[in-house]
Amino acid sequence: MLLKTVVFCFLLKSTWGTEDRKFPPGFKFGAATASYQVEGGWNADDKTESIWDAFTHTYPDAIANRSNGDVACDSYRLWKRDVEIAAELGLDFYRFSMSWPRLLPSGFPDKISEAGKKYYNNLIDGLLEKGIEPVVTLYHWDLPVRLQDLGGWTNPLITDWFADYARTAFALFGDRVKTWITMNEPIVVCELPYSTGMFPPPTRDPGVANLICNKNILIAHAKAYKIYDEEFRAMYQGEVGITNQLLWIEAETEEHEELSEMARELCTGMYSHAIFHKDGGWPPVLEKYIAMKSKKEGWPRSRLPAFTREEKKLLKGSFDFYGMNYYTSRAARKARPGEKLTDWPLGDAPEIDAKLTKRPHWTPAGSAWFFDNPEGIRNQLVWLKKRYGDIKILITENGYSSKDRRLDDMNRVKYYQDHLEQVLLAIKEDGVNVVGYTAWTLIDNFEWTDGYSVNFGLYDVDFNDPARTRTARASARYYAGVIKRHALDSNQLDSDNKILSDEL
Ligand code: GAL
Repeated sequence: MLLKTVVFCFLLKSTWGTEDRKFPPGFKFGAATASYQVEGGWNADDKTESIWDAFTHTYPDAIANRSNGDVACDSYRLWKRDVEIAAELGLDFYRFSMSWPRLLPSGFPDKISEAGKKYYNNLIDGLLEKGIEPVVTLYHWDLPVRLQDLGGWTNPLITDWFADYARTAFALFGDRVKTWITMNEPIVVCELPYSTGMFPPPTRDPGVANLICNKNILIAHAKAYKIYDEEFRAMYQGEVGITNQLLWIEAETEEHEELSEMARELCTGMYSHAIFHKDGGWPPVLEKYIAMKSKKEGWPRSRLPAFTREEKKLLKGSFDFYGMNYYTSRAARKARPGEKLTDWPLGDAPEIDAKLTKRPHWTPAGSAWFFDNPEGIRNQLVWLKKRYGDIKILITENGYSSKDRRLDDMNRVKYYQDHLEQVLLAIKEDGVNVVGYTAWTLIDNFEWTDGYSVNFGLYDVDFNDPARTRTARASARYYAGVIKRHALDSNQLDSDNKILSDEL
């Protein structure tokens, strides 16, 4: 495998102009954003508060520079410019998310917001006019506060509340939106609040609330999938998937291989196995382990809520594609006796007694959690194929953060180049069925607790300017060149890695 990789990398680098550097015909390129991160208009028209509005307003010190998404990129007003940028880049698709409280201000489908409906109709139609496909995420973390007050993702009733919201969106927009992502990164939805207290709702309750949330969010996804299948598929012929955040985790040394496989199941399997594995249910290794631990801790039953037979059936196979986000990697080893472990998933993995470290050659990016390891994306793709079979995978996010706003963002160009190269290797050498790639992100935006202090954008946004002027970076020109050529082309960069293409 290693030798094959070395040879292929050599070929990729030395014989530009061969078929190897081309993406398969039909492979699609896109870029992504999310509602709370770009829209602003937090109380525009009849929109109600989401948990991110409430969190940033109630705990301003939880966010870098006490910033929030009240205005963000002002995309609620400036969506035409976003569509224009998507067209400038030559994107095949634009992935954005819908804000649940913007569309359903009460959280329930008793009333649909006319303003919310109009905003998303405008955006969808604007994209289609330019020949760009809308790819829509239903839930990218901005839950209506009212539903949070009713227990949010720890209340099993939310599975129906979400299903109702999904049905509303399918009915309103399904004639034009053909790719739906139910959830963005359930691991973040369940673990960042309940295992770390860093994201809303900031109610840390590790080992309990996160596991209840985990079960409910999977079932909510499956109910939405079933609704699409039964009520809309025949009419609209679209596809529904779920997106998982995948930290590639490898063993620090060989002796920790078993533990690191368990860590991969914790990171990926907990949010995938029930849907994508042919046996369904929880990853067996963790189901057994958590049951055993719970018993020792004095619980009458496992902290991990069981699936009923019907739930298992509902979940199994509830997908048309796997949405994969990848940014960074970790190495796992068993914790030493008495060693302090920090909270999962940004720190360590205390549930399985694993310390997560980074390798010295993984260079840091702008975010504290981010170390650059291009091979991680390929390893993760191959792992998914091994675990779940020959499923269709759409890379729904990949991108690079920096602390500065430079337009000449050659680190980001290099990140894209290195990762796209690994994606090509996964397709051509490992036979992984990757159907598309999404750059995170179209424009700089509100980066959650990092606020506006780190940037991921292909386009810079001037947050000091009320017009929120957007300006293309070098990475935008590079990405436009890749899309235009449908290939990685060494002629795009000179020997100093400067971009030679004339795109943008
Ligand atoms: C993802 C998330 C995005 C974005 C990105 C960079 O986990 O889906 O919203 O913030 O990380 O941190």
